[in-house]
Amino acid sequence: MAEYKDELLDHEYDGIKEMDNDLPRWWLYLFYLSIIWAFLYMVYYHVMDIGYLQEDEYRKEMNPAYVRVAEGGNKLLGVLSEYRSPYFNPRGDLTPRERYLAQHDGSPLLVMTRETDTTTYELLTDAMLIASGGEAFQKSCSQCHGKLGEGGVGPNLTDYYWLHGADMTSVVKSVKYGYPTKGMISWRGTLSEEEIVNVAGYVLSLKGTSPPNAKAPQGDPVAE
Ligand code: HEC
Repeated sequence: MAEYKDELLDHEYDGIKEMDNDLPRWWLYLFYLSIIWAFLYMVYYHVMDIGYLQEDEYRKEMNPAYVRVAEGGNKLLGVLSEYRSPYFNPRGDLTPRERYLAQHDGSPLLVMTRETDTTTYELLTDAMLIASGGEAFQKSCSQCHGKLGEGGVGPNLTDYYWLHGADMTSVVKSVKYGYPTKGMISWRGTLSEEEIVNVAGYVLSLKGTSPPNAKAPQGDPVAE
């Protein structure tokens, strides 16, 4: 036992002595490193909000065009002004309030309840609303459905073949709830209720236009 003499502590109970052995250096350094790492991690993900947490990763996976906006009013230590990620897109995400609501009343990510089948929507006729739907379409939808709705990753929206129905109610619901397992996210939460209706109105205004490079029809034929 001689080699441990220095580390033998001063007390002894019923013949049991306590040793105080130093931790191996490599272990200690790993330990310090993990503390530093945890600190950097916290700053990166939680304080500065740069890194995507699982919720954002999920949205990104569902919609490759997804970008996250730092929550409004974030001030690091009350000093630095609101942090914006390099992908800043003012319409790309929920406001803190919407995020709160989403978590507490089951809107965007936690959509569990759909509208009942009896909820219906009227076809839009107001040209202004349709035009504003067109803007939203270019911004949020054209990367998958094409600038003219001709289709791409997503189906052609200009033909008479539809997967999920070509009436206003069906289209609003397609946009609102999406088909997440098929690559079409739920836009509820990213777009407001009116924007969804407007964009659906715009989508239906495309029906019957014949853009170049149209994607082959998918789904069932609908009335012209
Ligand atoms: C990331 C790609 C992507 C984006 C962005 C996207 N969609 Fe889709 N969309 C799809 C895919 C894929 C489908 C087909 C889903 C299926 O197979 O059931 C689809 C289906 C649809 C349908 C149903 C079509 C049918 O035949 O019934 C509509 C309507 C639609 N999208 C509208 C929109 C609108 C409006 C937007 C913008 C707010 C949008 N999509 C954004 C990929 C996308």
